[in-house]
Amino acid sequence: MLLTVNGKSHDVDLPSDMPLLWVLRDGLNVTSVKYGCGIALCGACTVHIGGDAVRSCQVSLGDVWADVTTIEGLGRPGALHAVQAAWITHQVAQCGYCQSGQIMQAADLLARNPEPSDDDIDAAMSGNLCRCGTYPRIRAAVHAAASAMREV
Ligand code: FES
Ligand code: FES
Repeated sequence: MLLTVNGKSHDVDLPSDMPLLWVLRDGLNVTSVKYGCGIALCGACTVHIGGDAVRSCQVSLGDVWADVTTIEGLGRPGALHAVQAAWITHQVAQCGYCQSGQIMQAADLLARNPEPSDDDIDAAMSGNLCRCGTYPRIRAAVHAAASAMREV
């Protein structure tokens, strides 16, 4: 079946019940998408489908309903997304394992809510776990990205 990832169409010859997480990682070598739990509890596998943040471990290939975006396709060509830029400015990542999922979730939040409060951020990001405890920097970076996006 045809699967569009980051604007590129792929003819994917994999079982339709294979989780999108494994299609991306093992089928298309998009290893930025991480396996953490496999049961929708950690958010490490978060990608966008049709612009919405979803847990790719929970969506079968045959059920993908729109184009997929991973962190590689989040910004425009040659330009980081404001969330990615803020993550760098605030040096959010520690080990980095959870961070592509965190960024995809944060981008989804800001697409829906351009001026989130601390509570909004905590609620939106609560399903994305970070074993390194980068939560304070995540919150600061989301505020910074929100402000940068409002100025554009
Ligand atoms: S691997 Fe998908 S939510 Fe944890
Ligand atoms: S940065 Fe290490 S798990 Fe989040």
